[in-house]
Amino acid sequence: MGLLGATELIAPDLIKNIGWLVFGRIRPIHINLVLFGFVTPGLLAAAFYYLPRLLRTEIFSEKLGVFTVVAWNFMLIATVVTLAAGHSQGREYAEMIWPVDMLVVVGLVLVLINLLMTVKNRQEPILYVSVWYVLAALVLTATTFSLGNVIWRPDSGALAGIPDAILLWFYGHNVFGLFLTPLAAGVTYYVIPRACRSPLYSHTLSLLGFWSLLVVYTHIGTHHLLQVPVPTWLKVIAVVDSVGMVIPVMAFLINIWFTVQGKLGEIHADIGAKFVFTGTIMYFFVSIQGSMMSLPDVQRVTHFNNWVVGHAHVGVLGFAGMIALGGLYYVLPKLTGRPLYSRFLADLQYWLILIGVVGFTVVLTVAGLIQGNAWLNGETIYRILPEIHIYYVFRSAIGLIVFVAAVIGFYNVFRTLWQPTGEAQ
Ligand code: HEM
Ligand code: HEM
Repeated sequence: MGLLGATELIAPDLIKNIGWLVFGRIRPIHINLVLFGFVTPGLLAAAFYYLPRLLRTEIFSEKLGVFTVVAWNFMLIATVVTLAAGHSQGREYAEMIWPVDMLVVVGLVLVLINLLMTVKNRQEPILYVSVWYVLAALVLTATTFSLGNVIWRPDSGALAGIPDAILLWFYGHNVFGLFLTPLAAGVTYYVIPRACRSPLYSHTLSLLGFWSLLVVYTHIGTHHLLQVPVPTWLKVIAVVDSVGMVIPVMAFLINIWFTVQGKLGEIHADIGAKFVFTGTIMYFFVSIQGSMMSLPDVQRVTHFNNWVVGHAHVGVLGFAGMIALGGLYYVLPKLTGRPLYSRFLADLQYWLILIGVVGFTVVLTVAGLIQGNAWLNGETIYRILPEIHIYYVFRSAIGLIVFVAAVIGFYNVFRTLWQPTGEAQ
């Protein structure tokens, strides 16, 4: 979907008169699929693996888990079909119509029940930080998703005017900050110490990171609305706390990186840990960039253009997506009791994605700077389009690389699951 959308931005007349393939429908399908179809299930799958192990108990209900997976996939099909058919509530990250919203809420609540009951039945009295993160992610997201999608207004899924924008972006950034981020942190806190075969550097630091994330991240959504007439005090809080994000980010990263200190060999040896560790480096970059983008003077140039799309791909693909893939590759051989079908293919996928994320970032950042500076100088939007055309071509080419990586990854996972024993390469 991303590749198709990117191609349509180069050649808008490519797909004429096929309503369900126009950019305006492809784009929301793309973002909802990456969000709810790829990264979320990937990170949750890892949580379903590590939670029982950390708590020394069985998962509460395997049947409920399988039922949730079926319901979740049904929700994804409904998302694609309804958005392709043009049924959209037109609010970013909240495009799905009410019945689909309800399926998401039900799915999140079912996962929460299963995991909470597992915690209740645990043999291990101490709750490791990964458990905190995954439970917080679910509680907070079931709530903010419901609020942000205004589920008590099924017809519009929206409030009116500025309050709607504030609520939407309260939810919009929470999807990344209080859902993908804690889920990814949970996986990282599990995989990295296990792969390094050493204890976590500091449990105190992990608690500082957890609580400061909850305190600081919950109200920075308004940094998406700095160019909008929302109350100034709200913007000030958003900007100050966006800069304050350096506390949870660095608490997490210092903890993980000090755990890895002297153990890079172990990280390199385990392809799952390699993906996860790279995700933490991306987290560093996306967060520094994010804090900068929250400053009004910077955002005067970067807002509304491809710079933000670059940031989005570093965050959702480079950070959360890489960690989701790392979790998958870490868990898969342990679950199946077989080695990965091909370490070579997994490494190839790793490099293709890395090239893809870095490539996206460079190309989209440059295109964004051209757009932002031209607009600041009073240039009109459409006259800049020919100038950034070449960057859109590069973006599509890089998108092809990412697409190939996904196909390779799928093949590798498929063969790991279905290889006759002993066939691993
Ligand atoms: C084949 C690879 C991909 C290509 C070519 C691609 C392309 C695109 C395009 C064209 C857009 C719309 C930008 C706009 O409206 O101007 C977009 C948005 C987005 N994509 Fe991708 N994408 C790809 C893969 C991914 C992956 C794997 C993820 C995450 C795991 C992702 C996350 C996002 C997000 C979060 C947005 C919303 C950006 C924003 O509104 O600022 N994309 N992508
Ligand atoms: C310290 C951490 C972060 C800060 C302060 C931050 C800040 C920002 C800001 C200010 C924007 C809006 C830019 C604009 O519209 O002009 C933005 C957009 C975005 N951020 Fe972040 N960010 C951070 C981390 C992350 C992470 C970790 C992710 C992904 C997991 C992420 C994903 C996104 C996405 C997808 C958008 C595009 C939203 C849209 O569609 O307009 N960010 N971020």
